[in-house]
Amino acid sequence: MKHLLGLEGLPAADLSRLLDAAEGFTGVGVGDVPKRDDLKGKVVVNLFYEPSTRTRVSFGLAARRLGADVLDFSPSGSSTSKGETFIDTAKNIEAMGVDAVVVRHSSPGAPHVLAKHLLPHIRVINAGDGAHEHPTQGLLDILTIRKRLGRIAGLTVGLVGDIAHSRVARSNIHGLKTLGAHVIVCGPTTLVPPEIKELGVEVAHSLDAILPRCDVLNLLRIQFERQRSGLFPSIREYRLLFGMDGDRMQRAKDGVLLLAPGPINRGVEITPDVADGPSSAILDQVTNGLAVRMAVLSELCKAA
Ligand code: CP
Repeated sequence: MKHLLGLEGLPAADLSRLLDAAEGFTGVGVGDVPKRDDLKGKVVVNLFYEPSTRTRVSFGLAARRLGADVLDFSPSGSSTSKGETFIDTAKNIEAMGVDAVVVRHSSPGAPHVLAKHLLPHIRVINAGDGAHEHPTQGLLDILTIRKRLGRIAGLTVGLVGDIAHSRVARSNIHGLKTLGAHVIVCGPTTLVPPEIKELGVEVAHSLDAILPRCDVLNLLRIQFERQRSGLFPSIREYRLLFGMDGDRMQRAKDGVLLLAPGPINRGVEITPDVADGPSSAILDQVTNGLAVRMAVLSELCKAA
């Protein structure tokens, strides 16, 4: 692997190797477990053109725990405000001597553009490009399922909510299907594009109908910031039809595992009692995200 631009087309062997490596990185740099020097002398830059808490902070921490130097770029306060283009910005940062670029951008394909334009030794990692992919989120979701339920193959995973705007949904679909899970996408008709079926998923529009079948429910955030208005009548109606609450937990499959990529809209996709309850792995996902990002940085930069 040279870059990590998406999980689409990534063979099962590569996915499993990254997940195994991530398990090995769990806890590195915490308590008595020392930091590592896999990336000693390397420079990793976070090039984030969209807001982020989990992805940005955990990539920075992951790189530092592996001994790298980390640069942080965000457009506010930068020369982007003077009209500098995305590519010019990246080429100028490249000229400072970096080894890996972690990029988040609102345009699908922005990481692919960097991979094409930057020097061949530079590794590019997609940290979310528009509604296209968010591969490390997909990996951390899959790792969380594997650690909690012991396997991926044969599980039924429901991705619920705003499928249309979700790069997390696409990365989950590619990774989970490659590893043998059955994936159901579920949401209002306006938030589930018909062409999603081409990715080999089952499509549903009733959460209550799929509840008893799902081993895992990944509750995707309604991305108000990407929507034009009127995609569903009201937040109240969305919550009634697709929100995970105590009543739905009673009707879900025994041992159901709840994921949410975060940030969550408390009381919309999931009620606070359920989000903070024993079936929720929301904070485990964040912990596992750090290990996944260490595994990805280590794998890509080792080969540089
Ligand atoms: N899940 C996720 O990508 O969160 P951030 O937007 O905070 O990075």
